[in-house]
Amino acid sequence: AKMEGAVIYLFGATGDLAKRKLYPALFSLYKEGKLAEDFAVVGLARRPRTDEQFRADVLASIQEFCRYKPDDEELWSRFEKHFVYMSLDIHNLEGFRELVALTQRLEAQFGIPGNRLFYLALAPELFGPVSFNLREGGLLETTGWHRLVIEKPFGYDRESARELNAQITQVFREEEIYRIDHYLGKEMVQNIEVIRFANAFFEPLWNNKHIANVQISLAETVGVEDRGGYYDKSGALRDMAQNHMLQMLAMIAMEPPSRLHPEDIRDEKVKVLRSLRPFRSPEEVYRNVVRGQYTAGTLKGKPLKGYREEDSVDPASVTETYFAARVFIDNFRWAGVPFYIRTGKRLPVKTTEVVIEFKNAPAGVLFRTRNELAPNLLVIRVNPMEGIYIKINAKKPGSDADIQPVAMEFCQSCQVGLNTPEAYETLLYDAIRGDSTYFTRWDEVDHAWAFVDPIAEAWRLPESELLFYPAGSWGPERAAELLAEDGYHWWPVN
Ligand code: BG6
Repeated sequence: AKMEGAVIYLFGATGDLAKRKLYPALFSLYKEGKLAEDFAVVGLARRPRTDEQFRADVLASIQEFCRYKPDDEELWSRFEKHFVYMSLDIHNLEGFRELVALTQRLEAQFGIPGNRLFYLALAPELFGPVSFNLREGGLLETTGWHRLVIEKPFGYDRESARELNAQITQVFREEEIYRIDHYLGKEMVQNIEVIRFANAFFEPLWNNKHIANVQISLAETVGVEDRGGYYDKSGALRDMAQNHMLQMLAMIAMEPPSRLHPEDIRDEKVKVLRSLRPFRSPEEVYRNVVRGQYTAGTLKGKPLKGYREEDSVDPASVTETYFAARVFIDNFRWAGVPFYIRTGKRLPVKTTEVVIEFKNAPAGVLFRTRNELAPNLLVIRVNPMEGIYIKINAKKPGSDADIQPVAMEFCQSCQVGLNTPEAYETLLYDAIRGDSTYFTRWDEVDHAWAFVDPIAEAWRLPESELLFYPAGSWGPERAAELLAEDGYHWWPVN
C-alpha cells in the first residue's frame, strides 16, 4: 500500500516514548522520503508549550536518539514546520472541539486528504475516555480514514483486556485499531518468516520429527529504571511474556499462511496461541514456570541495588523481574517439542535470541568420538546484534575422527553502513500505510491472556515460591533445572 498523507495526533507528546522512539522514527521516515510533505504532527499533552518549544524538544530528542542526525538545516526547517502543539486535558470535550479547528487548518495548509492517525502513548485506562472524546468532539467525521494506534499493556488480565477492548470497539472497528507490540517491528522478528519460508534448508525440518526444542531468551541488563511504579504492578509476565515472547513464539511456530496478507498471517499466529497447552492447576504452573526477582549484585564491576530497593517499588514486593517457562504447543507440527522461554532484568547481557535445537543425526553408529556429538543449532539473533548462525559438526582438522561444532554466520548488524530501521519506524510507517501485519489483533491478545492468567493466579497463592537471584547473574538455578529435567540446557547467549 502507498503511504497517504495524514494528521498524526500524538497523545503523550511530552512522554518518554515520544522522545526516545516516536520523534526519531518520524524524522528517519522523512529523511528517507517515506513521509512526503502532506503530513502534520500534533503534539498533545496537558502541560502548556508553544510550537517553538515543542519543536525544540523534538529536535533535542532527535539529536539524542535518532539514527540520522538533523544536521541538514534546510531539511530540518522543512520538517519542523509540520509539528504543532496543543495543550489538552483529555477529559475535557471542549479541547477536542478546538482540535477539530486546528486539524482543519493543518489539512488545508499541508494538503492532507482527511486521514487521521491517533497515537495514544498513554496509560491504558485512558484509551477508552480518549476514544469517546475523539468521537464526541467530531474528530472522526472526516472524508479520509481514521486509525487508532495504542501501546501496551493491553489490560492487566483477560477480563480487563476484554473491558478495554469493549470500550475502544464502541468507537473504532477492529481494522482501525493498531495494537503495538514493538518486537514485531524488529527487523529480525520480521525476518523469521523469510528465513523459514524462503529456505529449503529449514522448512522441511521445522517440526517435531527434527527439532528437539526451541529456546527463546530476552535478556536485559537494565533494572526497572524510573518505571518502578508501572513495573511493580506489572512484572515480567505481563510486561514481556504476554506480548513480546508469545508473539515471537507464534512467529516461530505458525503454519505457512495461505497468502502474505495481514489477516492470513494473523490467523496463523492466533492458531498457535490457541494451541498453547494451558496450565490446568497451580501445581502445573509451579512445575513448569520459574518466578524470580533480583537482589543486590554486581554487573561489570558495578554494584547494583536489589529490586526491592528501587524507586517506587514496594520494599516487600513479590513482583517478578524474571520469568522462565516450559510450554508446549499441542498441534500436529509441535506435539512433544518443549519451547523454553525466559526473560529477565539485570541479567549479564542485553540480548534477544531464538535457538532452534535439532535432533541429532544418528552419527553415533559411525563415529567413535570421545565427546558426544553436539546438536545442530539455528540461532536467530534479534537484538542488539542482528543475524543468524547455524552450528554444524565437522571434522577437527588434523585429527583422526574428532568431530567439532563449527559456526556459519550471517551477521546483519556487522555489515558496514547497514543502519537498519528501528522498530517504531517500521511500525509507524505501516500504520500510516494501513498495513496491520505486525500489529496484534484482538483475538491474539485475548488468547495470550488466556494462557497467562492461570500463571498469575497460581502466583497469588501463598504456596507459590518467589526465587531470588543476584543482579548480574543468569537468574534462578531453577531455570536451568527446567531444561535439565528434559536432558537439555540453555544454549549460552553471547
Ligand atoms: C518493553 C518493556 O515493552 O520492552 C520494557 O516494557 C523492556 O520493560 C523493553 O525493557 C525491551 O525492549 P527492547 O526493544 O529494548 O528489547
